[in-house]
Amino acid sequence: MVDLNNPEALSTIDSTGYFAALAELGTQCRQAYALGRETRVPAVADLSTVVVTGLGGSAIGGDLLRVYCQARLRVPVTVNRDYTLPAFVGRKTLVFAVSYSGNTEETLSAYQQAREKGATIVALTSGGKLAALAGADGVPVIRVPAGLAPRAATGYLFIPMLAVLESLEMLDGVEAEVEELARELAHYATTYGLGSPVAQNPAKQLALNFKGRLPIIWGASGTTEVVAQRWKGQINENAKAPAYWNVFPELNHNEIVGFEEPAALIRQLWVVILRDKGDHVRVGYRMEITRRVIEGKVAGVTEVTSTGEGMLARLYSLIYLGDWASVYLATLYGIDPGPVRVIDYLKGELAKR
Ligand code: PA5
Repeated sequence: MVDLNNPEALSTIDSTGYFAALAELGTQCRQAYALGRETRVPAVADLSTVVVTGLGGSAIGGDLLRVYCQARLRVPVTVNRDYTLPAFVGRKTLVFAVSYSGNTEETLSAYQQAREKGATIVALTSGGKLAALAGADGVPVIRVPAGLAPRAATGYLFIPMLAVLESLEMLDGVEAEVEELARELAHYATTYGLGSPVAQNPAKQLALNFKGRLPIIWGASGTTEVVAQRWKGQINENAKAPAYWNVFPELNHNEIVGFEEPAALIRQLWVVILRDKGDHVRVGYRMEITRRVIEGKVAGVTEVTSTGEGMLARLYSLIYLGDWASVYLATLYGIDPGPVRVIDYLKGELAKR
C-alpha cells in the first residue's frame, strides 16, 4: 500500500497533476472571479429565473450557485443536467451553459434549446464546440484555461457565474467573499497538502478511514447539501469507488431506519456528517441524535464543521477537505485520480451513434 507520508510516491501515481491543481485552487478562484467580471452580459428585462445547464464536474458549480443564491437572490436558480431544458425557460431566463471540455452532448443540446427559446445565454467553457457555437452566435463566452480535470476546475466553473450576477447588480459583496475564500484555501492547501503528514492531516486520515469501506456523506438542506453531493462525486470519479450522500432533515424520515440489516454490510459504512453555522438549529439537534442512533453499528462517524465567515469560504472549507481526501483515497487504491476512462468510453460510444 502506498505510504501517505511519502509525497514522491503519491505524485508518481498522479499522471495529470491533480495534486498541484488542488494546491492552486485559491489562485484559480481569484482568476475565475476576474474572468467573470470582465465578461459583458446584457441585463435581462424582467428576469424570472437563472438556469445552469451542465453535467458532472461542470454541473456542481450550478449547485453551489443555487445554494449560495437561495437566501440572496430574488429569483430561483435551477440546475439542469439533461438534454432538455424545463418548459419555463424563455426570454426572461438567464442560462449559463457550462461545459469544461465544451463537447458534452447534453449541454450542447440544452444550449441550442436555450437559443430557440430566446433566453439570454452565457457560455462557460475552456473551448470545444460550445465555444465555437457561442462565438458564432454572438453569445458571451467566459473562456477558462484548459488542461485540468473538469472537477479540478471547480473555481473556474462556479466563481465566474457569481461575478456575472454581481456585474448585473443581482448580488453584492462577492469580491470580498472570493478574497476570503482564496486566503482560506491557501491556508488549507498546507494542512491538507502532500507535505503534511498523516498525524496532522485530516484529509489523509479520512482517506485511511474510507479505504475498504463505503463512505456515506450527510449534509443539510440549504447549506452543506452541495458539499455532500460533491464529496460523493469526487470519491466516485477520483478514487473510482462508490459513495452515497443524503441530507438532513429528510434522511431522518427514511434512511435512518435502514441501519439494522445486513449488519455485516452496515459495519463497513463510514459516515461523515457535515456541519455549518448556517444549519437550522433543530437540524443541529437532529445530527447529534442521529449520530447516537448509528454509532456502534457503522465502522465510524466523522463530524466536520465548516470554517470561515462568508458562505463561499465555509462551503469550500468542506469541499476542499473532501477533494483532498478523495485523491488520497485514489492513491491508497493505487489509482490515478485524474483520468475517468469509463466516462471517456461512454462519450466515445455515444459519439458513434
Ligand atoms: O469531472 C469529469 O470529468 C466529468 O464529471 C465531466 O465534468 C462531465 O463528464 C462533463 O464534461 P464537461 O465538464 O467537459 O462538460
